[in-house]
Amino acid sequence: MYNGGKIITGLIIFVLLISAPFWLNVGQANELPDISLDTPAINQLSEKQCVESVEFMRSQHPQLLNDWRDQVVREGESIYVSSSGKMYEMSLDNNCLQCHSNQSQFCDACHTYTSVELYCWDCHGGGIAK
Ligand code: HEC
Ligand code: HEC
Ligand code: HEC
Repeated sequence: MYNGGKIITGLIIFVLLISAPFWLNVGQANELPDISLDTPAINQLSEKQCVESVEFMRSQHPQLLNDWRDQVVREGESIYVSSSGKMYEMSLDNNCLQCHSNQSQFCDACHTYTSVELYCWDCHGGGIAK
C-alpha cells in the first residue's frame, strides 16, 4: 500500500529543512561580529573589565539584566556586588550604557548579527526610563 520507510525519510528531510535557519543561526552565534570596546569610559579603565567575566557576560547578560530589573523594580535594591567584590549600580542606562556608550556598535551590532531584537530600547538608552 504505502512505504513507511519513505514517509519517515521524507518527514526527517522535511523537519531538517524547516529547522535549517535555526541550525545555521546556531553556527553563526559561535562566531563574534565586530563589536567595539572603544568608548571614553572603557578607555579610562585601568583594568578593562566588565561587571563579570567575559565568558559570564557573553552567556548570562540577559539573565543578569533581568535579575537587576527585578531587584530594582520589585525589591527596591540598587547595588550589585560582583563575584570579585566590586559594587555597581544595577542600571541599564547608568551602568551598562555608561561603559558601553557605543550602544549601536556594541549591543546592537551583536544582536543584529545574532538576530536578536531588543524591545528595551523603546524606553532605555535615551528613552523614558532614564
Ligand atoms: C515600557 C518601557 C520599558 C521597557 C520596554 C523596558 N523597561 Fe526597563 N525599566 C523601565 C522603567 C520605567 C524602569 C524604572 C526606572 C527607574 O526606576 O529608575 C525600568 C527599570 C529597569 C532596570 C533597573 C533600573 C535601571 O535604571 O536600569 C533594568 C536593569 C531594566 N529596566 C532593564 C530592562 C531590560 C533589559 C529591558 C528589555 C528586555 C527593559 N528594561 C525594557 C521601563 C522599561
Ligand atoms: C566598567 C565598565 C563596564 C560596565 C559597567 C559594563 N561593561 Fe560590559 N564590558 C566592559 C569591558 C571592558 C568588556 C571587555 C572585557 C574583556 O574583553 O575582558 C566588556 C564586555 C562585555 C560583553 C562581552 C563582549 C564579548 O566580547 O563577547 C558583554 C556582553 C557586555 N560587556 C555587556 C554588558 C552589560 C549588559 C552590562 C551591564 C549589565 C555591562 N556590560 C557593563 C566594560 C563594562
Ligand atoms: C557578544 C554579543 C552580544 C553583545 C555584545 C551584547 N549582546 Fe545581548 N544578547 C546576545 C545574544 C546572542 C542574545 C540572545 C541569546 C540569549 O538570550 O543569550 C542576547 C540577548 C539579550 C537580551 C535578552 C533579549 C530578549 O528579548 O530575551 C538583552 C536584554 C540583551 N541581550 C541586552 C544587551 C545589552 C544591553 C547589551 C549592551 C550593553 C548587549 N546585550 C550586548 C549577544 C550580545
